[in-house]
Amino acid sequence: MHHIISIKEITREEIDEILDRASAIDQGAFDPDALKRKILAILFFEPSTRTQMSFASAMLRLGGKVINLGSVETSSIVKGETLADTISVVSGYADAIVLRHPKEGAARLASEFSTVPVINAGDGAGQHPSQTLLDLFTIRQSMPLDGIDVGFLGDLRYGRTAHSLAVALSRYGVRIHTITPKGLELPPSLTDDLLDGGTEIVVHEHLEDIISELDVLYVTRIQRERFPDPGAYASIASGYRVTPEVLTDVSDRFILMHPLPRVDEIDTRVDALSCARYFQQARNGVPVRMAMLQKVLS
Ligand code: NCD
Repeated sequence: MHHIISIKEITREEIDEILDRASAIDQGAFDPDALKRKILAILFFEPSTRTQMSFASAMLRLGGKVINLGSVETSSIVKGETLADTISVVSGYADAIVLRHPKEGAARLASEFSTVPVINAGDGAGQHPSQTLLDLFTIRQSMPLDGIDVGFLGDLRYGRTAHSLAVALSRYGVRIHTITPKGLELPPSLTDDLLDGGTEIVVHEHLEDIISELDVLYVTRIQRERFPDPGAYASIASGYRVTPEVLTDVSDRFILMHPLPRVDEIDTRVDALSCARYFQQARNGVPVRMAMLQKVLS
């Protein structure tokens, strides 16, 4: 059975295969009945717009059907049902499960109780592999992945999209640059893994010091909901912001990415610049998730 829990367990060859399949799908090369009679269960215990809707759209475009837990407040979870029991039950109702949960490790646990494939759509500050695949797909639309310089700006401590993407990029010999508010640096265990794997990580204090050398800048929202202390969030929140002025010296192939939702990290005036790729990135969620669903369900 094909669970997709962490990008750490997906090889470069498998990543390239999914991205190639997504490119073909994006060009219209797919069977609209490929997943006819298959049912996807969407179980989200945290808010979501893009991930949830693009998984549903991907399933429908392949001829499949979707069932959705809907809001946690109206499910048996409020009666005290455990995640393990919920998963045991739902795996009897569907052919695959997409799960988002506030606790790191939840998707792994779910995969142990599920009789059908589980796709991790974000587990706390852990991993977000489907987002990573669409991020890689978006970069690949502009440039080859090998050996590029990628900057990460924002909350690298709690941001699961950055965690997953950094691991995936390490398979392509990418140099990683980090620019973070104090206290929101990459977790030491992840930094160690990346360094052990031979990835170069360069820490910068200011975006201005490195922006002209970057091929990609990946901006993330400060993950307010994961802060143990709301006061600490308030003191960090307004620390950085990408404006058109900051982007005047970027290279010709430079692209600006963000998994969305954005709060204040990117000035809306940036949206009109040709380097702004975050809405394209969100759209890419559909072909990439179609490729993923075909992989786990076919
Ligand atoms: C991200 C997430 O949920 O981790 N959103 C998404 O799936 N595109 C990023 C975020 O919430 O900041």
